[in-house]
Amino acid sequence: MKTYKYIFGLLLLVVVFGLSGCKDEKPVTNVGKLHFENPLKLPQLVEPTIASDGTKHFTLTIQTGTTEFLPGKMTDTWGINGSYLGPTVKVSRGDHVTMDVVNKLDEPSTLHWHGMKLPAAMDGGPHQMIEAGGTWSPNWTIDQPAATTWYHPHIHGKTAQHIYRGLAGMFLIDDEDSKKLPSDYGVNDIPLIVQDKLFTSDGQLSEKDDTTFGTLGNEILVNGTYDPYVKVTASQVRFRLLNASNARAYDFGFTDDRSFKVVANDAGLLEKPVTLDRVMLSPGERAEIVVTFKPGEETILHSYSSGSGIENGEFDLLKVVAASKLTESAPIAKQLSSIPPIKAPKDAKVRQFKLTMKSEINDKKMDMNRIDEVVPAGTKEIWEINNFGSSHNFHIHDAAFRVLDVNGKKPPEYERGRKDTVFIPNGATVRLAVEFGNYPDQNHPLMYHCHLLRHEDDGMMGQFLLVEPGTESQISTKLPKTDTEYQHNGHH
Ligand code: C2O
Ligand code: CU
Ligand code: CU
Repeated sequence: MKTYKYIFGLLLLVVVFGLSGCKDEKPVTNVGKLHFENPLKLPQLVEPTIASDGTKHFTLTIQTGTTEFLPGKMTDTWGINGSYLGPTVKVSRGDHVTMDVVNKLDEPSTLHWHGMKLPAAMDGGPHQMIEAGGTWSPNWTIDQPAATTWYHPHIHGKTAQHIYRGLAGMFLIDDEDSKKLPSDYGVNDIPLIVQDKLFTSDGQLSEKDDTTFGTLGNEILVNGTYDPYVKVTASQVRFRLLNASNARAYDFGFTDDRSFKVVANDAGLLEKPVTLDRVMLSPGERAEIVVTFKPGEETILHSYSSGSGIENGEFDLLKVVAASKLTESAPIAKQLSSIPPIKAPKDAKVRQFKLTMKSEINDKKMDMNRIDEVVPAGTKEIWEINNFGSSHNFHIHDAAFRVLDVNGKKPPEYERGRKDTVFIPNGATVRLAVEFGNYPDQNHPLMYHCHLLRHEDDGMMGQFLLVEPGTESQISTKLPKTDTEYQHNGHH
């Protein structure tokens, strides 16, 4: 009788475990399903018109459309100057730009320049809403080192949905250092915007978001291409990787385990290239890698499963096919960035941020009318992020930072460059030396937040002001305006 009970109990345990725990631990995968039959789409470079004073005017129109991802199925999507994703903006350091952002949706949206140093009123965060039918025209001078930045909507509570439906694009900044790398757009300098999606049986984007991370997809799009391949014609190709997914992290590598050179983090070139065979990016992060090819060879860009939750996917992303004749490119320079690494002074102000299982920062949910931190513009500070639960990451607007340490240890060599978004593992303390933008403005707040979009939308975001140094104590932490200021220009 006793053994009987014991066996029954064991059986029950196996069944219960099989139904719940075990199922979640199995990595989500698309491996074996793909044929790599669709040529990778290349986001077009958007052509500016140049005003007599030299200002480059770009027009970005947010619109609805339909896109064929899955063979024979039309998917309702959103895009910018097209039906899905947006064009690539390419500028040089020193350029003055005006962006005319036209919102043709029938609801408000915004466009935020992620990774850009600019005046807070131009940032495109939740306070710079563009109403349906409206146009918003921010302008600023590009004044930061070369980087692969990007743009996407930032409506408080709806960022996940707007990005997921297709609103995102790359914004590339060149300078003298970056031009030494392969720079022929679409030829040996190829953007790769990686996103996971869930499709319904009739090919629509499913917004089912029943995980604590929101929507985690089981299919991959690269530049909005399902099942993609790309043919390369150069012996050295620079890929600009952008994780534009709502929540999924990717541990990038190639199926033949070839190594590559990491040459840039989110916000700028590394001092020196770092040779690796894996690079992990959480949502919002970017990396530039340079891969060497031999004529005629093939390999598959892959994402390896490195854990649970947002890191548990095992995906084939893109097949790369090298042409039988390849253009030789110059060897990659040993010294890349000529800009010294970000250093906070000895007496730098230290601020602490607590992340938990709840979508809060320092036990507070985002409040559009509350200022959480007042920071002197143009200074460098130490921000210490403590994660007490779940997987999160951390992004700061109008700033670049260097990761000082993770749990007291220096970050891996490839992560020591300029960044604006960083993965914060569960239980970790991550210290950042942050260099802030230099445009004081006590009326327009900037954001810091978890870039897992469900968390951000749920309130895992705070607001800070960059103010004239010395005036911090006089600044009110209640915002003068209670309403979101809508952009009316061009609407009437
Ligand atoms: Cu990529 Cu605050 O955003
Ligand atoms: Cu941002
Ligand atoms: Cu989070």
